[in-house]
Amino acid sequence: MKIVVLPRPSDVAAFAARRIASDLRTTPTGTLGLATGSSPVGVYRELALMVQAGELDVSRMRGFALDEYVGIPREHPQSYARVIERDVVVPLGMEPGLVAVPDGRAADLAAAAAHYESALREAGGIDVQILGIGANGHIGFNEPGSAVTSRTRAVELAESTLAANARFFADESEVPRRALTQGIATILDARAIVLVAQGEGKAEAIRQLVDGAVSTQWPATALRSHPDTLVVIDDAAASALDHGTRSRLASEDGRRPGEPGEP
Ligand code: GLP
Repeated sequence: MKIVVLPRPSDVAAFAARRIASDLRTTPTGTLGLATGSSPVGVYRELALMVQAGELDVSRMRGFALDEYVGIPREHPQSYARVIERDVVVPLGMEPGLVAVPDGRAADLAAAAAHYESALREAGGIDVQILGIGANGHIGFNEPGSAVTSRTRAVELAESTLAANARFFADESEVPRRALTQGIATILDARAIVLVAQGEGKAEAIRQLVDGAVSTQWPATALRSHPDTLVVIDDAAASALDHGTRSRLASEDGRRPGEPGEP
């Protein structure tokens, strides 16, 4: 796992987007793993600018979203199907028919989960997975306690996740309590993973990811066993790392902390 610490959220977005774009250029008909949430929004914006400038073409790429709420209509502005369409498919010029989101409205959620896993397999797996991280260390909607062997399935959301998601809904009673999410094992199948995190609210989750024991209590720590994971964070998200860890990261990277560089 490689960790890069940069001063501002905008640096994180630009750095992660450059790395993702350079991977995507080698697999123009490959598959991109798409995270929702606020963390990757800047990354998608940077990628969209590259597309507009003619430096990147993702029109033949497949996309697979990480997760979807259970129990809200597809047309709801906060359904992940709509968010992916609005933040990713349209601005990046992806082909809507090539982008899949788990079906959180299915009557049989176990069947929808199995279908999603087989669609992923048939597509040949994910080349680059974009990830955010929850304040409690979740990735996708794999809450604390999720097994490292977990696959796409329906899950109950943690109370802290419900509280974090409340900001997207007019009324607390509207906040979905369940989701359909790729599992930890599904995420680890991606050939490359780029995780972004910004802000002090993520500092403890990042400390656990970088320096904590690998544990299902902090689901993101499973990424430590992945051969090609890049973690790009801003100073605020790095603020709980101890000084020794920050100096080690900077010297491994050959840069002073916060100095931008090539992905
Ligand atoms: C949600 C998503 C995750 C995301 C997390 C963090 O729970 N399912 O994929 O990483 O929130 O959200 P944010 O990026 O808004 O902080």
